[in-house]
Amino acid sequence: MQLSDAIHSRISARGFLDKPVAKATVRQIIELARHAPSGSNMQPWHVHAVSGKLLERVIEESIAFAEKKPIGSHEKEFQTPTENFVQPYKGRRYAVGMGLYDALGIDRKDKVRRNEQLMQNFYFFGAPVGLFFSVHRSLMPGQLGDMGIFMGNVMLAAREYDLHTCAQGFWQDVQPVLHDVLDISEDYFIFNGMALGHIDPEHAANSLVSGREHIDEFCQFAGFEQ
Ligand SMILES: Cc1cc2nc3c(=O)[nH]c(=O)nc-3n(C[C@H](O)[C@H](O)[C@H](O)COP(=O)(O)O)c2cc1C
Repeated sequence: MQLSDAIHSRISARGFLDKPVAKATVRQIIELARHAPSGSNMQPWHVHAVSGKLLERVIEESIAFAEKKPIGSHEKEFQTPTENFVQPYKGRRYAVGMGLYDALGIDRKDKVRRNEQLMQNFYFFGAPVGLFFSVHRSLMPGQLGDMGIFMGNVMLAAREYDLHTCAQGFWQDVQPVLHDVLDISEDYFIFNGMALGHIDPEHAANSLVSGREHIDEFCQFAGFEQ
């Protein structure tokens, strides 16, 4: 697969087929991703790749945890802005959220169904594999950029195996359960989860096309002679 094909065909999949992914395949994806660059080659990423009964336990215990402490009510180490949330970022976030509800036929005012869609994050949208990316707290926030590059590599490498992904910042709110069930030291911040599996092409959520700004909106070229 050409890199450009991997880039263009990657989407955040929010509906997966009930079809397993072999450990060897997940290993090959992570193996490719580990070639990512990082500041001073610190390679700050740690990955927990989870499937089967253990994934079911993660899901069950996370849902039970969220019943006591609803998602979004936690004090976050990295707050998505709510006050002073400036444009154009606020508008873009709103647009993709509403685009997803439209794709799913969810009325924008229907808080119950909107919440049900949020809760799909717990189930990795039906994917058979959940990946968790953690970083030693002493390396934050400096090395979070490295984490993003690594996760980007995972998402693109998955395409080579005809698999899809959805990064999930959602899991930041479920840290205590993940530390416990996956036996991750509290010295590590669980930066993101990620669903990995075979996309369900028929799932309405996967019809969402998220827009991108034109290159001239965010890139200035200077000093070129040709
Ligand atoms: C770091 C990161 C965290 C994300 N967290 C979530 C999440 O928790 N739940 C979700 O449904 N999508 C999540 N997304 C997916 C974004 O909404 C998506 O990448 C964006 O809307 C662009 O759409 P595309 O990935 O289909 O191109 C996340 C993406 C990134 C890069």
